[in-house]
Amino acid sequence: MTDWQEIADKYMMTTYKRLPVTLVRGEGCRLWDDNGKEYLDFFGGHVVVSLGHCHPVVVQAVMDQAMTLMHYSNIVYTTPQLELARLLIDNSCFDRAFFCNSGAEAVEAALKLARKWAKEQRGDAYEVICAENAFHGRTLATVTAGGTERYKAPFTPLPEGFCHVPYNDAAAIEQATSEKTCAVLLEPIQGEGGIVVPDDDYFPRVRAWCDKQNLLLILDEVQTGIGRTGALFGYQHFGIEPDIITLAKGLGGGFPIGAVLTKEHCSVFVPGDHGTTFGGNPLATRVGHAVVKHVLEKDVCGKAARAGEVLGHKLFELEDRFNFITAVRGKGLLWGIEFRRDMAEEVTLACLEGGLIVNNVRPNVLRLSPPLTIGDGELEQGLAVLERVLSTGYELAKTSGPAFEREWVSKDDGASEDM
Ligand SMILES: Cc1ncc(COP(=O)(O)O)c(C=O)c1O
Repeated sequence: MTDWQEIADKYMMTTYKRLPVTLVRGEGCRLWDDNGKEYLDFFGGHVVVSLGHCHPVVVQAVMDQAMTLMHYSNIVYTTPQLELARLLIDNSCFDRAFFCNSGAEAVEAALKLARKWAKEQRGDAYEVICAENAFHGRTLATVTAGGTERYKAPFTPLPEGFCHVPYNDAAAIEQATSEKTCAVLLEPIQGEGGIVVPDDDYFPRVRAWCDKQNLLLILDEVQTGIGRTGALFGYQHFGIEPDIITLAKGLGGGFPIGAVLTKEHCSVFVPGDHGTTFGGNPLATRVGHAVVKHVLEKDVCGKAARAGEVLGHKLFELEDRFNFITAVRGKGLLWGIEFRRDMAEEVTLACLEGGLIVNNVRPNVLRLSPPLTIGDGELEQGLAVLERVLSTGYELAKTSGPAFEREWVSKDDGASEDM
């Protein structure tokens, strides 16, 4: 049998720390490796596979559009792009859309938009207030906007114009605001930061401050958008309207696409300001349209919200039972389990062994983000594997004390690398 991991070691750049598995097929919430072993997917390849693997609606859209018109650039009009723009705008508080290919590109476009808006509205202000532990992508600007020092350190000098304050602290944003500030950039729920859900009054207060100071509020919904939190967009939980949001991940259900949605008052790009060759091409946008249409028509958000309640309930039960779980946080089908020690990698590997894919988003936080279409039985089955894995640790803890520590403490920084 081909040793794909050896081939990766020899030919690939050493960019990613990977799980020791080679996946070859997926269907719904299930995946198979090159040995034919089956897994339940509670991760969705970094929170992407919103409708499950190879969902017929996604597959049909890919096939139909691939046989019709795969690519043309934005030098002409193409219909799938315009249909997706209309669908997103008609179902959000925004007025205009821009399409690109990834989350980082969407955030990059939003940052450029904010800077241009500020030149016209705020006398050359350019600084964006961001949150500690935020994640916005890996381009130079988005990695700078992110709040993880080790992702930035090798790439200095970084672009100017970003400052960081603690997340879920509106007063810190107020204090950090100066005449240089043009925008505030936040995730509705911090994803890569460890699934951090803000207090209910955080976004209303930030919105009010941005209104008072004439700042743009940009929400990065790359991870939370398109039903992930049980609403079409994360901002809808907080009773506010951002000026700009960014989307990617779940929008294409597995096909690469990114988007920026903006209110009319800050839709300031004119021809020549920004662009992308592939962004908004017929294939990607046809798939995006099929995904969003399906999500809306089949009440996928409602289903995700209900499944999320079941999932959350079970996780709180586990928190009550296992004293090494220090917190459980989440909304819809985006949940984090925080451990007292850095054991998330060990748990992830043990789950993999047991046929369940989960994600060690931080050394001490496990992320669960199954497809929004997950069935009750699959949810139960996956949770049973997780419970079994955690119980093994619990049994060890009861019987062997310090051995438990040795068993569960990871050897190095065990977090999976963010994309
Ligand atoms: C909130 C958020 N923004 C941006 C990104 C970057 O997206 P991409 O990896 O598609 O560039 C991510 C990826 O994890 C994300 O979670």
